[in-house]
Amino acid sequence: MEINGESPPQRWRFEGNERLTQAGAVTVRGVLNMVMQNLDENDSRPVIPLGHGDPSAFPSFRTTHFAEDAVCAAVRSANFNGYSSTVAIAEHLSKELPNKLSADDVFLTIGCTQALEAIVTVLARPGANILLPRPGFPYYEARAGFSGLEVRHFDLIPERDWEVDLDSVDALADENTAAMVIINPGNPCGNVFKYQHLKKVAETAKKLGMLVIADEVYGGLTFGNNPFVPMGVFASIAPIITLGSISKRWIVPGWRLGWLVTNDPNGILTQQGIVDSIKGFLNISSDPATFMQGAVGEILENTPSDFFEKIVSTLRECADICYEGSKDIPCITCPTKPQGSMFAMVGFSVGLKNWLRVTFAIEPSSLDDAFRRIKAFYQRHAKKQ
Ligand SMILES: Cc1ncc(COP(=O)(O)O)c(C=O)c1O
Repeated sequence: MEINGESPPQRWRFEGNERLTQAGAVTVRGVLNMVMQNLDENDSRPVIPLGHGDPSAFPSFRTTHFAEDAVCAAVRSANFNGYSSTVAIAEHLSKELPNKLSADDVFLTIGCTQALEAIVTVLARPGANILLPRPGFPYYEARAGFSGLEVRHFDLIPERDWEVDLDSVDALADENTAAMVIINPGNPCGNVFKYQHLKKVAETAKKLGMLVIADEVYGGLTFGNNPFVPMGVFASIAPIITLGSISKRWIVPGWRLGWLVTNDPNGILTQQGIVDSIKGFLNISSDPATFMQGAVGEILENTPSDFFEKIVSTLRECADICYEGSKDIPCITCPTKPQGSMFAMVGFSVGLKNWLRVTFAIEPSSLDDAFRRIKAFYQRHAKKQ
């Protein structure tokens, strides 16, 4: 093909990076895009999104005016227009921890996603491996794969409230295992780990000489019997890196404010060079918007509690609809009622293997509709057999 009447060079010396194309395809976003592209355009029924974990567009999940005002105030103050220093959120996170955090333990990131990218990249030394939960959050696999960090999977056990199979962790780990990841409250299982189980996770990590990455992006979103216990509580047993953000609890994933926290009272992460590497990663990356850094302290500290009560009670209502609704449809089963996060895992029974993640954090009336339609679908097809 000629360009401006001239023939092109013999060959272009650049091309796309196949590894990135592949990494992106295995994320939740990648799979959902593929499904949405394959919808029947002529079908006029509304699409009810049970796939992605962003309920911000639904009226019942609108964030609080308090948080919106905090961001506006930070913008209007003109104090946060340039590069700003890291704001300490250590105090807020320390409330539930025996070993108090200092501002030096907290690194602000662009959502929990960048926190996850940072720690996975830091650990990706040649030959190293990481233990990830199955089922889990595929972004870890995608990011580790791209960074050349070998992934090994341990199982979460449905019959035991999706607890970690600690025997398999033991069996998978070797001298190159740097870390294991837990997601609590759980995505995709909707489980909330008990205190004693988390303690055993820390003890296992200590025995195997690895650190624990605790993804607590759904922290505080619990509505069952098990209270949320931050993994940092066990930091005196093994070093813990906690990842979080305001995306889920405040229902503002677009605001892109997260954190990576080192819970390390024994100084092991510093001694092993992990803290310096985290700083190195963040020095070659971009920061969250400065007005968000300016607003986050106020948002974390002073959001009125009735906002959280309303969100948690809506999530509880949605989890009930999902759990009861799946009981009513013979081809799917939900082994345990979700106790936290925004998701449930449902297993297929009749003629199908495997599991599916259902996002129940949508408008409750739409969720009702969704289960009615799935049931009708089942009945239509069951009759044909
Ligand atoms: C388990 C888990 N970790 C991390 C993230 C990323 O969070 P953020 O939107 O704050 O980047 C998500 C988002 O869905 C998640 O489900």
